[in-house]
Amino acid sequence: MPEISERKDFDPGIPAERVPAHVAFIMDGNGRWAQARGLSRLEGHARGVRTVIETAETAFRFGIRTITLYAFSTENRDRPPEEVAALMNLLRTFIGEYLPELVKNEVRLRVIGDLSWLPGDIGEAVRGAVARTENFGERTLVVALNYSSRDETLRAAAAYADDVRRGNAPAGKPDWATFARYLDTAGIPDPDLLIRTSGEQRLSNFLLLQSAYAELYFCDALWPDFSADDLRRALAVYASRERRFGKTGEQVREERK
Ligand code: IPE
Ligand code: IPE
Ligand code: MG
Repeated sequence: MPEISERKDFDPGIPAERVPAHVAFIMDGNGRWAQARGLSRLEGHARGVRTVIETAETAFRFGIRTITLYAFSTENRDRPPEEVAALMNLLRTFIGEYLPELVKNEVRLRVIGDLSWLPGDIGEAVRGAVARTENFGERTLVVALNYSSRDETLRAAAAYADDVRRGNAPAGKPDWATFARYLDTAGIPDPDLLIRTSGEQRLSNFLLLQSAYAELYFCDALWPDFSADDLRRALAVYASRERRFGKTGEQVREERK
């Protein structure tokens, strides 16, 4: 990843105040990208890693402060063992090679998901990378690894119940801010925009609670082909929408004055 700088050719195409603070990506289509070229699914995933690096750089240069990438779901564990092993190998290489770039560019790495399932050395490397970057605050890269919303919710509920039992949390219905501290995303603002590539229009167990008011954007590009222009198009659509959070359009427009 080259140096992050405010270069003009990284114009997001919309006014800075309309740029979403947090964009989440469901990176889909690596397999179909490869199959269309007579390549193995693994080659699609390898090409997808390049898109991760390019997209992160572009997004940060556009002024997006937090990006979340769905890299591996709890359901993906049921893929053929060779594919799972190959994805773990890619992850191992990615962490090893990309950590110095994150440090150089002062990007904080956060991970959501159940790391206990990951092969031991990868879990270690991920935890080390998270610790190494924890004091950076300007830009955050969140990677969802062995993540699903339902799994996250169950782990959070169990941790909350433990705290109630120990007297560390009040019994009864918590407010949302209190419960949200038990989610993997504690301290991370909710996504403003959620983008899924490859033409599929579903959430596949991703950030279901955090996306309560996210704008959803689906595009046909397969993840390895996802480009800065695709991101610009998504941002233009996002900027054209009116987010109402339950209020009327009139109220929202009045508040903006
Ligand atoms: C997304 O690409 C990457 C992961 C889920 C790890 P896919 O591997 O799901 O690609 P398709 O959907 O089969 O094309
Ligand atoms: C969602 O993609 C998971 C990730 C991008 C990591 P999938 O390809 O696994 O989703 P489904 O199975 O098509 O819903
Ligand atoms: Mg898929």
